[in-house]
Amino acid sequence: MTLVTRRTILLAASALGAVGLTAGLAFADLPPLAKKDTYKVGFAQTESNNPWRIAQTKSMQDKAAELGYQLVYTDAAGSAAKQVADVNSMIAQGVDLIFLAPREEKPLIPAVMAAKKAGIPVILLDRNVDQALAKAGEDYVTFIGSDFIDEGKRVAEWLAKNANGKSKIIELEGTTGSSPANDRKKGFDEAITAAGGFTILASQSGDFARDKGRQVAEALLQAHPDADVIYAHNDEMAMGAIAALEAAGKVPGKDVLVLSIDGGKEAVQAVVDGKIAAVVECNPRFGPKAFETMARYAAGEKIEAWVKNVDKFYDPSNAAAELPNAY
Ligand code: AHR
Repeated sequence: MTLVTRRTILLAASALGAVGLTAGLAFADLPPLAKKDTYKVGFAQTESNNPWRIAQTKSMQDKAAELGYQLVYTDAAGSAAKQVADVNSMIAQGVDLIFLAPREEKPLIPAVMAAKKAGIPVILLDRNVDQALAKAGEDYVTFIGSDFIDEGKRVAEWLAKNANGKSKIIELEGTTGSSPANDRKKGFDEAITAAGGFTILASQSGDFARDKGRQVAEALLQAHPDADVIYAHNDEMAMGAIAALEAAGKVPGKDVLVLSIDGGKEAVQAVVDGKIAAVVECNPRFGPKAFETMARYAAGEKIEAWVKNVDKFYDPSNAAAELPNAY
């Protein structure tokens, strides 16, 4: 097994001309951002296959338009390799700053380092990179996003209080190697183990996608017909799981509790309808905070390593009232 370290990644990137090493592992400071009336800004999106991504992109485009900035938008269509190429293309186009939603934690490191070498500051949006390989305030400006570990923990804590005897869990994980999948699993698994009395029967990736989530839920329900809880790392997989349950003749919300993260309108409506038991929000409206953070950086402020988003929680006690506010 190859041990991937910050040093090996940086040396590999350097060999590709992506990073300038001066003395051993000495690095320049973060690239500065000049104060200007208008900017050309990159936004490297990871994919556009779900309402969460579409809401995030719209929020970024709306805010850029409001400010009169040019937004160079790319969609990596679910490929980390394409996303690296997208960032390289933004560098070639001479953007002032890059907002990057890194699909996975490790493969986007060379892109972060290449932007730094080119003197272009990077702000990570919604997903993080491997903290052993790149650092906020050193390699990129900051990470703006939710506390994914806490999201998983909040689902587990709700379940521990409201399970009503249900205890056998199927977990549908997000994209393998992505920070929300890693952290939502960690937060949930640790908290549910600490609560005691629950068993995770199976845990498998559904790639944050509805149809993959449905297929994986179908297979896992066949292998574990006694499962009575499905925890999905996002709404899309939760909706896929509901379809799988209904196809298997089970009643979501009665035979099997479905729990989710994201809080899109369809999922909050499913809470109102009793098909989803509870959802932790993951707020996709990044535009205002992203551009405000960029302005603070241009003004010379020292930006905190993590600009945290605050997430709501939906269950039968508030879902109907909150439905109009869901994205
Ligand atoms: O990174 C956030 C996650 O990515 C959202 O939960 C998911 O729906 C999206 O694709």
